Amino acid sequence: MPVYRSALLRFADDGSALYDEDGLLAVGPDAQGRQRVLAAGAWQALAHRYVDQPVTHLPGRILAPGFVDMHIHFPQTDVIGSPADGLLPWLENYTFPHEKRFVAPDYSEQVAQFFVAELLRNGVTTALAFSTSHPASVDALFTEARRQHMRLITGKVLQDRHSPDGVRDDTEQSLADTEALIQRWHGVDRLGYAITPRFAPTSTPEQLRGAGELAARYADVWIQSHVAENLDEIRWARELFPASRSYLSVYDDFGLMRERAVYAHCIHFDDDDRALMRDTGATAAVSPTSNLFLGSGFFDYAGADRVGFGYGLASDVGGGTSFSPFHTMLAAYYVGREGQSKQGLSLSPQRLWWQHTAGAARALGLAGVVGNLQPGCEADFVVLNPRATPLLERKTQQARSLDELLFAMIVLGDDRLIERTMVSQALGAKLAPVSR
Ligand code: GUN
Ligand code: ZN
Repeated sequence: MPVYRSALLRFADDGSALYDEDGLLAVGPDAQGRQRVLAAGAWQALAHRYVDQPVTHLPGRILAPGFVDMHIHFPQTDVIGSPADGLLPWLENYTFPHEKRFVAPDYSEQVAQFFVAELLRNGVTTALAFSTSHPASVDALFTEARRQHMRLITGKVLQDRHSPDGVRDDTEQSLADTEALIQRWHGVDRLGYAITPRFAPTSTPEQLRGAGELAARYADVWIQSHVAENLDEIRWARELFPASRSYLSVYDDFGLMRERAVYAHCIHFDDDDRALMRDTGATAAVSPTSNLFLGSGFFDYAGADRVGFGYGLASDVGGGTSFSPFHTMLAAYYVGREGQSKQGLSLSPQRLWWQHTAGAARALGLAGVVGNLQPGCEADFVVLNPRATPLLERKTQQARSLDELLFAMIVLGDDRLIERTMVSQALGAKLAPVSR
């Protein structure tokens, strides 16, 4: 049973950070052979339980929960940094043409390998990801995530209209493919399926209705889509679905809002939309680097908290600009600052970190499973080296509080901070290290 001695970061149920400068993390298999956290806390308080165990001592390092990315597109790995006037021209000129390539299984496999490795290299151990409309892309991503023992949720994109040849699918076939993929992959090892209408404008009412029927039939699969990201997109959705109260209501009208439904962006909402999120248990994937890059707008943190719906952080690569959770947390801070001038809101470093770990896990319906290092959680964690760069070393050494330490890493951190990523394996007593 591995026992680690190191500084240790984890989160209490109220989202506040717990930090032991001299901490202990003990990991071992449960009855099914899945590696879980057995104990976490102060070395002083826990070490007597493990006197006979070998200890891995990591002086100067911090153990922290693996990051949870609530929304990312695996086929957009190479779309990062494609400039456009806004969302719709970006989709038309860069994204759709690129996603056509994933019809080829060997191309999908090659990108899936890079994508999973890049997530793990950046400390992300759980992700809710879009594939493309091609079932082969879903098979490729699940296969690779399973090989790397990563907790990954994805699905075949549904888009049967307003999409070019090569990515547009057929209504009936798309729903049959979705059901076959649910049966093939959902619940296998650490994998989960998400019913994935791209967004309302690229699905016919028939496709959305079919997706909603599948969502009712398979109550523990996830649902993911985009909503209220961009003003032109909203106008288009309202024209196409005039009977719905709002763009968000389209999804509700087709049975696509419930727990485990995750909507990316959720920027241009009114309070009725916020209440609909809260009342249905749907949650938002907040993607600040994407929103800044595509000029979409600013997520309203104060509005979400006032009405009370769940949310967490996401990269949204390739609208988003980075796989690094540190870049996403810093961008979220900037977005919160923008809101602050209007609403008196400030996102603390503990809150930002929580939103990308335990908070994101909660918003995925995976609280107590991933995103934290409390006893019982799956043993996904990162080893942070706060001396990874000269400036990080200088700045973190001057930190006088946990907030100052976390802030230094959020502002200055990137993949160099992640010395190792450890993911929980199902079988055997070994954790899989991912070397840089
Ligand atoms: N809306 C519909 N498709 C997409 C996509 O691929 N990225 C983003 N950011 N928004 C979308
Ligand atoms: Zn997206």
